[in-house]
Amino acid sequence: MLIMLSWEQLIKECTNCRRCDLAITRTNIVIGRGSQNAPMMLIGEGPGEQEDLQGLPFVGPAGRLLDLLLNALMISQDDYYIANIVKCRPPGNREPTDDEAEKCLPFLREQVRLVRPSIIVCLGGTAAKYIIDRSARITQIRGQWIERKGFWIMPTFHPAALLRDDSKKVLMWEDFKKVREKLREIKKATG
Ligand code: URA
Repeated sequence: MLIMLSWEQLIKECTNCRRCDLAITRTNIVIGRGSQNAPMMLIGEGPGEQEDLQGLPFVGPAGRLLDLLLNALMISQDDYYIANIVKCRPPGNREPTDDEAEKCLPFLREQVRLVRPSIIVCLGGTAAKYIIDRSARITQIRGQWIERKGFWIMPTFHPAALLRDDSKKVLMWEDFKKVREKLREIKKATG
C-alpha cells in the first residue's frame, strides 16, 4: 500500500521495486517524463527496448511519432506528463499481464495524485483497460470524452498502432484535436 508519497519517495519506491518478475529482466525502471504539474497526463502501456535502455518513456519509434503529433498540434511540453501502465519492460514487448499491471498501478495512481492533471489521455487498449474499463475495446470507445472522478479522459490509439496501420493516423489526429481544444478550455478557465 502506498500512501501519499512525495516525488522523491515515489522514485525511490519504484527504483527498489521487486513486486513482479519484470524487475528481473529490466535494465532501467521507466517512471515518467514531462512537466510534473502539467494539465494533462498521457498514459501508454509499458516501456519498449529504447525506453528500457534509456529509462524514459516514449523515446523509441512510437515516441517519435507521438512527439511529431504533439508538435504538429503545437501542444507544448509544459502541458503534459507521460507515463505507462507498467514501469518495467515486458520481455519482447508483450502486453503486461493483469498481475503485473495490478502490482504497478499504485505507482501510477501516485503519479496522477502528484501531477493533478485535468486531462488523461489513454494511449491504446492497455491503458484504456486499466484506466477506464476492463472490457474496453479501444476501437469502440476512442475519440469520446469520459468524465470521471474530476478527470476528462480521452481514449485513443497507441502511436505504435499507427506504425502498423496508416488509416489510424487521421482518427488519432481527430482525437488529439479534441484534446487540444479541451486543453485550451481548461487553461483559459484556470488562467
Ligand atoms: N510504448 C509504450 O506504451 N510506452 C512507452 O514508453 C514506449 C512505447
